[in-house]
Amino acid sequence: MDRHAPHDFTAKWAQQDLGEVVVSAKEVHDRVCELGNQISKDYAANPPLLVGVLKGAINFMSDLMRAIELPVEVDFMAVSSYGAATKTSGVVRIVKDLDVDLVNRDVLIVEDVVDSGLTLNYLRQYLGARSPASLEVCALLVKEGEQRVEQSLKYVGFVIPSHFVVGYGLDVNERYRNLDAIYTYVGEA
Ligand code: IMP
Ligand code: MG
Repeated sequence: MDRHAPHDFTAKWAQQDLGEVVVSAKEVHDRVCELGNQISKDYAANPPLLVGVLKGAINFMSDLMRAIELPVEVDFMAVSSYGAATKTSGVVRIVKDLDVDLVNRDVLIVEDVVDSGLTLNYLRQYLGARSPASLEVCALLVKEGEQRVEQSLKYVGFVIPSHFVVGYGLDVNERYRNLDAIYTYVGEA
C-alpha cells in the first residue's frame, strides 16, 4: 500500500461496522486542496493562526495546513462535551486550552464536523473574548438541518446528511480515526 496516496479500500478490521462511503478519500483530498487555496488567497496579507479542535480535527488539520501556502501558525484545543457519547449537550468543558495569545490575531477554527453547532458556538464565544482581530471557522463537514444555533461558517468542506459518520479523524470510542474516507457508522451505538 502506498501510504502517501489517500486510499479508499475499506480496512478489513473496520468493514463490519461501516456503511456507505459518505465522502471518499479522493473527494476529501481534492476539497482540502481547494480550501487551502482559498484560505491562502483570503489571508495572504495576514496569515492566520489555525486552531484545531482535538481530536476529531487532527487529520483535517494535518492536510489543510499543508495545503495553505502561507506561514500559518498552529495550535490545538481539546474540549469535551458533557452528556451521551453521540449527542452533544452544548455544555463544553475545556480539557486543553491554547498555548498562544489571540490578541490581534486572525484566528481560524478548524473543526471536523458541525452537528448541533453547540460546541462551536461555545468555542466562538470563549475565543472571541480574547480580542482576536478576526475569528472564523473552517469546518470539514456540516450536517444538514441539524444546527440549533445560527452558524456563519466561512469555509465548509461538505454538507452531509444527518447520519453519524466515522473516519478521517471522526471516531466512535476512539476508533476509526485512521481511515482516509468518511463512512456512515452502522455498528453498535
Ligand atoms: P455539535 O456540538 O453537536 O455540533 O457536535 C460537536 C462534536 O460532536 C463534533 O465536534 C464531533 O466531535 C462530535 N460529532 C458530531 N457528529 C459526529 C459524527 O457524526 N461522528 C463523530 N463525531 C461527531
Ligand atoms: Mg470535534
